[in-house]
Amino acid sequence: MRRKVIAGNWKMNMLPNEAIKFIEELSAQVKNTSNEIILCVPYTDLFYSLLTVQNTNIKIGAQNMHWEEKGAYTGEISGQMLKSIGVEYVIIGHSERRKYFAETDETVNKKIKSALQNELKPIVCVGETLEQREAGNHENIVRNQVKLALEGIQSEQLEKIIIAYEPIWAIGTGRTATSNDANEMIKTIRNEVANLYSEEVAQKLIILYGGSVKSENSKELFSTSDIDGGLVGGASLKPDEFAKICLSV
Ligand code: 13P
Repeated sequence: MRRKVIAGNWKMNMLPNEAIKFIEELSAQVKNTSNEIILCVPYTDLFYSLLTVQNTNIKIGAQNMHWEEKGAYTGEISGQMLKSIGVEYVIIGHSERRKYFAETDETVNKKIKSALQNELKPIVCVGETLEQREAGNHENIVRNQVKLALEGIQSEQLEKIIIAYEPIWAIGTGRTATSNDANEMIKTIRNEVANLYSEEVAQKLIILYGGSVKSENSKELFSTSDIDGGLVGGASLKPDEFAKICLSV
C-alpha cells in the first residue's frame, strides 16, 4: 500500500507571521493522521515554518531551486542552501514556473538531479494545457514530460521522488479533472514509469493530483486506485479547509 501524501503549495502567498499562525492551527487538527502532510512555502517563510513544525507531523518544502550549488546567479537559491536549513521537499517544474520563468524539461531534469544530490525530495510537476488535451495529445505530452524529467535518474532514486499530475486547465480555475480522468492519467504516468524502470518501481511511486482540489472533491479523488493524494494550491491557504483535505482519506 502506498502512503497518502497531501502537499500544500502556497505559491506567492503568506507572510511569516501568517505562516506561523497557519501551522499552529493546522498542526492541532492533523496531529493524529498517518497521512504525510507537506507545506511548500515561499523562501521567506521557510525558516519560520521549519521552527514552527518542530514536534508536529508537518513537513516543509520549497517551491523551486536552482540546479547549481553556488555561484553568480543573482536571486537564486540552491539545493544545498535549502538543505542547510532543514528543508525536506522541493517542488520542481510547476507549470507556473514553466510558463512565466521559461523552465524547460531540461532544466527540470537538472533541478531534480541537484535536489537528489542534496538529499532533498523533489515533487515533480507535469501536466497538459487545454489545447493539448482537446487535440487528444495529453497522454503523449505527459508521458514525454515524465520521460525527460527522469532522464539519468536511477531506479533506487525514484523512492525519493513524488510526481504531481497537474493539468494546467484545472489550476486555479475551479475546474477539477473528474476523479476518473485524473486517475486514468495517473495510471498512464505509472505505466510510463513501468516502461522506463519496472512495474515494481512504478507501483511504489507516489503520484499526486493537483488542480482545484478542495475539501468537497478530495475524498473522491484520493480514493481512486492510483491517486496517492494531492498538491493543493488555493485551498491550502486556509487551515480549516486544508485540514479537511488532509483528513479526507
Ligand atoms: P489550485 O489548487 O489553486 O488549482 O492550484 C493547484 C496547483 O497549482 C498546486 O501546485
